[in-house]
Amino acid sequence: MSHLLKIDASARQGRSLTRQLTDAFVAQWLYQEQDAVITRRDVGALPPPAVTEDWIAAAFAGTSRNSEQHDLLALSDELIDEVEAADLILIGAPMYNYGMPAALKAWFDQIIRIDRTFSFDLARGDKPLEPLLSNKQVVVLASWGEFGFEACGQNAEHNHLVPHIRTCSRYLGAESFDFLAIEYQEFGDDRHQASKREAFNAIPALVKRLQGVCADAA
Ligand SMILES: Cc1cc2nc3c(=O)[nH]c(=O)nc-3n(C[C@H](O)[C@H](O)[C@H](O)COP(=O)(O)O)c2cc1C
Repeated sequence: MSHLLKIDASARQGRSLTRQLTDAFVAQWLYQEQDAVITRRDVGALPPPAVTEDWIAAAFAGTSRNSEQHDLLALSDELIDEVEAADLILIGAPMYNYGMPAALKAWFDQIIRIDRTFSFDLARGDKPLEPLLSNKQVVVLASWGEFGFEACGQNAEHNHLVPHIRTCSRYLGAESFDFLAIEYQEFGDDRHQASKREAFNAIPALVKRLQGVCADAA
């Protein structure tokens, strides 16, 4: 039985394209595997707080952490537990100002934490950080208003959304990283409709491939 963690980051609800994509992905997943476990975390509706100086001190306090510091990290612990329990982490990621929404960045900041999701050891030389989680699939379903954010596209150098999430996903334990995106949202023209169709049509094959991988890993 697989366990999927669905993260939605759009500040919009009803008219959000990324929410429609993640809903379609989950529906397809459940169609193929009725008893899969789905955990939902809506960071768009309820953004995690930004980390503070006290939060950082608590995260680095290690075994000397006091009860107040434990309380400060309670949400972070809960969010990390959700990631730990999942086989697949599905992220609905709108592009805001060429990167991820602040709410999604706040979620990553709460999760990428010393001795929970990474270890740090200078004995490793110039690469002291090592992820502690492994064996997870990460899927990003994105949407943006412009177009040409793919490699060699006219906006390739402005795509700070997918590369940033891909880099951070290493600390979610990502063994694989897949993404697709709806383009041209701001144009609302035929190109947008075609891009939308293409993205939704790609979901069944993506789910089938990933479920094969999850089944192999079980
Ligand atoms: C605050 C905000 C910032 C945005 N910034 C960009 C941007 O930098 N580049 C872009 O192509 N589209 C941008 N857009 C368009 C969104 O990426 C697009 O509307 C997308 O569909 C949002 O995802 P959603 O439909 O799930 O809410 C922005 C939209 C909003 C609301």
